Amino acid sequence: MTFIKHYKNTKKQFGWGSILLHWLIAFPIIGLYFLGDYMMGLTYYDSFYVLAPKIHEAIGITVLLLMLFRVVWKLLNVSPNPPASNSNFINKASTLAHLSLYFITFVILITGLLISFAGGQGLEIFDWFTIPGPAELFENQATLAGIIHEWGALGLIALVALHTLAALKHHLIDKDTTLKNMLGVEEK
Ligand code: HEM
Ligand code: HEM
Repeated sequence: MTFIKHYKNTKKQFGWGSILLHWLIAFPIIGLYFLGDYMMGLTYYDSFYVLAPKIHEAIGITVLLLMLFRVVWKLLNVSPNPPASNSNFINKASTLAHLSLYFITFVILITGLLISFAGGQGLEIFDWFTIPGPAELFENQATLAGIIHEWGALGLIALVALHTLAALKHHLIDKDTTLKNMLGVEEK
């Protein structure tokens, strides 16, 4: 097994830029989902009560920056062709699924920011620095953004589960190079 050497996408394969961004964003998002769910169950007397949201927000901001960079990177790159065995319908469904993954991720990132900014103190990254931001832009901001954040996160995880099943189906049943392509394995 050999690995690709190019960092930009070609018509045949993703390059390391897209591959690294995909995984550097995917793993933290899955972690943020479980951390978010877990931290909502903590009470004032839990030792992790103050720290957990700080970690959640700091990782969230990092994912936001990576996502912005990813959009720029996508615009600067060609998209690899889908496997020839895919039907037209599957190609359209997968484009729609990928667009939805981008869209819901941004919805969660922005509503996360809106929840954190609603307090009016900006977003404190541990004791290091504070990212300034507007206080409440609309009434009940923290509550409304909180509801969208929670449902958005649930929707994203469901879509990611489907996305993962699709990747595994390509690899195990169709035996094509879709998953290998996202792992940097060179096509013969
Ligand atoms: C894609 C990235 C993210 C995911 C998957 C995610 C996931 C979650 C989940 C599942 C919850 C628990 C919701 C509930 O049960 O009510 C939560 C809560 C929260 N998240 Fe995120 N989050 C993400 C990004 C962010 C970002 C970027 C910020 C802020 C900068 C943020 C700030 C918060 C806050 C403050 C809460 C507590 C909500 C409340 O007090 O009602 N999140 N998040
Ligand atoms: C939070 C988790 C994840 C998110 C948000 C996510 C998001 C995305 C997005 C937006 C794309 C389209 C890339 C583009 O063309 O710009 C993509 C492609 C891909 N992802 Fe994920 N992904 C996640 C997790 C996973 C996992 C766990 C797997 C496999 C086990 C996976 C396998 C793939 C593969 C194989 C492709 C290439 C698809 C193709 O060539 O059409 N992803 N992912």
